[in-house]
Amino acid sequence: MQQTRTGAASQTKFLLEESQLPRRWYNIRCDMPTAPQPVLHPGTGQPVGPDDLAPLFPMELIGQEVSEDAEIPIPEEVLEIYSLWRPTPLYRAHRLEEAIGTRSRIFYKYEGVSPPGSHKPNTAVAQAFYNKKEGRTRLATETGAGQWGSALSFACKLIGLECKVYMVRVSYEQKPARRSMIKAWGAEVVPSPSEETQSGRAILAEHPDSPGSLGIAISEAVEDAAGRDDTAYALGSVLNHVLLHQTVIGQEALAQMELAGAFPDVVVGCVGGGSNFAGLAFPFLREKIAGREIDVLACEPAACPTLTRGVFAYDFGDTSMLTPLVAMHTLGHDFVPAPIHAGGLRYHGVAPLISQLMLDGLIRAEAYLQNDVFASAVLFAGSEGILPAPEAAHAIHGTLQAAKAADEAGEERTILMNLSGHGHFDMAAYDNYFAGKLEDVALDEGEMERALRSIEGLPTPA
Ligand SMILES: Cc1ncc(COP(=O)(O)O)c(C=O)c1O
Repeated sequence: MQQTRTGAASQTKFLLEESQLPRRWYNIRCDMPTAPQPVLHPGTGQPVGPDDLAPLFPMELIGQEVSEDAEIPIPEEVLEIYSLWRPTPLYRAHRLEEAIGTRSRIFYKYEGVSPPGSHKPNTAVAQAFYNKKEGRTRLATETGAGQWGSALSFACKLIGLECKVYMVRVSYEQKPARRSMIKAWGAEVVPSPSEETQSGRAILAEHPDSPGSLGIAISEAVEDAAGRDDTAYALGSVLNHVLLHQTVIGQEALAQMELAGAFPDVVVGCVGGGSNFAGLAFPFLREKIAGREIDVLACEPAACPTLTRGVFAYDFGDTSMLTPLVAMHTLGHDFVPAPIHAGGLRYHGVAPLISQLMLDGLIRAEAYLQNDVFASAVLFAGSEGILPAPEAAHAIHGTLQAAKAADEAGEERTILMNLSGHGHFDMAAYDNYFAGKLEDVALDEGEMERALRSIEGLPTPA
């Protein structure tokens, strides 16, 4: 029994009132020591302007993409939908701490309470809102794990837009229930690569058995949106405005840590394109840039080690080279990661804001093998009860590494992690893990060299 704990130290959940929902998003651009590199037009090599992006995005989001304002007001209509599940709970992981016998304190912010089950609707609702406001009637998007596709279909349903989802084929096959969820909210979903776009057909012609990747699915969704006036493109991660919308997570967590009478020494999140990590970390990085000491750790799969082994370069955001060029850590736009079960982490690049923060030494990254990650997920489920999404399990594994390092150093640290989603639609992955069928894949050096050849000749960052 835990009879010795008193006051905030004995509490498990730290909850905010609905009235405490953040009313502004935090824009880290205005605090960054080095400004991120401009996004370039692939034809001219010159920075893109609003007109280049207008076929794909509403003006309000294009404005947020380049905004230098420290804070951006959240529209009332968006706040009203957020209030269906926000503020999300912050937990003290007492039982996990006991299970591993650490001297450190572990907290987690739980984004799995949203209707689709992850952090993704924080931006999906905002993107659907601005598109509707500017007269679009339909959105096209990609999805890896299915979390983003279901979040966007949920947002489109509530706001009143049509939605088309290109779902990475391996996830489409691994997660039939995610497909049904997307359909339940009224969206159309097809496996990617598909026969419905030129990009998809070209890839299928060369690789009929392609498992797909986020890069391929993005090509299909961009092509769909660019070809229709009524349709805009929505991206679930990577872009500045997406990371901006996620900062409600970290702002709430700052207030909740205060309720707990604590402040983190370590902040941990998993990184696919970088949005949930940024959502938690950016408001804390604001404190770090202002002088507080915080170790900020990004966790990624060894099969797709963008931050730990990728190069910082200009590259396309998609496989078919339809997007502008962004300066980021990349493994090359035609890299197709092994079909690991954390589908949402299978992306060749990462958010440019995160890349720049990494170059400036404000964050660090580690890469893990999937059997180690699932072992940590099962340990977490067995102590805290929540069955995590395989993506989020990378953050759990990173948290356990940070706690172990603190114990070995004889230190007591406060660790805060983002639990970005639940894994209720990922049971096939757990089945494979229990059956000993999960393959540990670390990216092969030869394959990395091959994939990086695809960026030769592109502009180099200043
Ligand atoms: C639960 C969950 N966590 C994390 C991610 C990774 O995306 P990001 O790095 O943008 O948070 C995904 C992506 O699909 C996801 O579904």
